[in-house]
Amino acid sequence: MEERTIQLLKAQELNQLKSEFVSILSHDFRNPLNTILLSTGLLEDSHDQLTREQQLSYFQMIRQAVQDMNQLLNEVLLLGKADSGKLKPNFEQLNLKEFCQKILHSLHLSFEDKNQIVTQFKGKFEEELWDAKLLWHILHNLLNNALKYSPQGGQIFFDIIADEKIVTFRIEDQGIGISQASQKHLFESFYRADNVENISGTGLGLSIVRKCVDAYQGDIFVDSQLNKGTTFTVILPRQQPVMSKIEKSIEQI
Ligand SMILES: Nc1ncnc2c1ncn2[C@@H]1O[C@H](COP(=O)(O)OP(=O)(O)OP(=O)(O)O)[C@@H](O)[C@H]1O
Ligand SMILES: [Mg+2]
Repeated sequence: MEERTIQLLKAQELNQLKSEFVSILSHDFRNPLNTILLSTGLLEDSHDQLTREQQLSYFQMIRQAVQDMNQLLNEVLLLGKADSGKLKPNFEQLNLKEFCQKILHSLHLSFEDKNQIVTQFKGKFEEELWDAKLLWHILHNLLNNALKYSPQGGQIFFDIIADEKIVTFRIEDQGIGISQASQKHLFESFYRADNVENISGTGLGLSIVRKCVDAYQGDIFVDSQLNKGTTFTVILPRQQPVMSKIEKSIEQI
């Protein structure tokens, strides 16, 4: 009897999560779709009254809307994969320093000079094995949050510390902060704290970060104070380098 009640409760919870998922996703897809509809309509009907700059800015808005939808779709697919236990790291050779610079560049395109990100690499970095997709989701979401929830001009510190077996990524901002009560729910899908006011978001970013860190068998910690700032610390294990063919054949001799 008890077993059946637990199953029913689980099914109910799943259903509720599903409908929440559908309603938020429909909303988040509708925004960029409206942008595309409006911009293409204007370009079609009034292109002769628009300057070249205006036309270009509508094309850029369309491109951004498509990118936003694509990102949302990727995130939903990733969450689905994680829930069915299929999210496993896929390692490839990567230069961590260059990779972090790429992420910072992509954020610069969206946020321009809103905040200065002070980046520091400590320790020895070599070309080594990382899962670029998982790492991208982790760092991009955390840095994106630091920028989004910081006032204009607030500094952000991004430290990447390489030790023998682990790499620690620390992202510290001087933004709106997160209350103790909210910190307990941060990694739940769609959770957003009350103090976000009119800053937009879906509440999916951190649940994706958590799933990627778990897939990596790493750790994540948060330390935050309201109106003072937030620090997220992620610790990921370093992979043992794969031996090159030459090294392998030497070992076999
Ligand atoms: N650096 C931060 N400073 C203050 N609040 C934060 C910070 N990072 C996360 N939060 C809080 O945690 C909530 C969840 O973050 P999460 O990244 O999952 O969602 P989001 O930023 O609202 O939306 P998105 O899905 O677009 O990332 C945020 O809505 C915000 O309340
Ligand atoms: Mg976010």
